[in-house]
Amino acid sequence: MRKLTYFVACTIDGFIGDPEGDATSTYAYVTGEFLDHLKAEYPETIAAPARPHVGVDPDAPNRRFDTVVQGLGSYRVGLDVGVTSPYAHLREYVATRSLTESPDPHVELIADDLVGRIRELKAEEGGLDIWLCGGSTVAGELIEEIDELIVKTYPQVYGSGMPMFGAGFAPRDFDLGAVRAFDNGVLVRTYTRKR
Ligand SMILES: NC(=O)c1ccc[n+]([C@@H]2O[C@H](COP(=O)([O-])OP(=O)(O)OC[C@H]3O[C@@H](n4cnc5c(N)ncnc54)[C@H](OP(=O)(O)O)[C@@H]3O)[C@@H](O)[C@H]2O)c1
Repeated sequence: MRKLTYFVACTIDGFIGDPEGDATSTYAYVTGEFLDHLKAEYPETIAAPARPHVGVDPDAPNRRFDTVVQGLGSYRVGLDVGVTSPYAHLREYVATRSLTESPDPHVELIADDLVGRIRELKAEEGGLDIWLCGGSTVAGELIEEIDELIVKTYPQVYGSGMPMFGAGFAPRDFDLGAVRAFDNGVLVRTYTRKR
């Protein structure tokens, strides 16, 4: 089975962005040894347009993921500035019921049975894992399918904002794995879902 991993950035109080989802205030922390860690361990999570700016080779091999899943809200962040295939080095899936035609031949839309489609992807033989990029709504819908959480916590508090999961209340247990703390205050924690 391939894992579905929600690899996500948040504030200390668990928000992935402001109430509209904007998290640009955290970008100042994507520097130094934390950025080096991202480049070394998760280069595929750096969008193609950002790669030249942070020194990632456009053809850098994927290390953890070969597939990305996002909701239209997350995908729209790039689409609104003309980026139709932000992760062209991955298989790209976008959940949407309103878009009927994909803006890019490399991007496959999922309109029906999102959970079933994710289960099919997880059941594929071989390959790397599946990166659940977000946002909040899609992460909430896929919460029971998530096998691993990699939470990048920035040393900021928002007070309110967009939650990591747009899901109903229910305690779900995870085992804590690796913990990395970086000199700029960023913390990266890996958790595995207890089944
Ligand atoms: N901090 C981080 O690491 C991080 C990561 C990713 C995103 N974000 C932020 O998250 C924000 C977006 O989050 P969001 O919650 O607003 O949106 P989202 O989860 O990215 O996308 C929501 C959209 O996905 C579609 N969708 C949801 N469930 C579906 C289903 N079962 N089947 C088919 N389509 C489905 C719907 O599109 P239709 O309306 O077309 O039906 C829905 O409007 C962005 O602002 C982004 O910046 C932050």
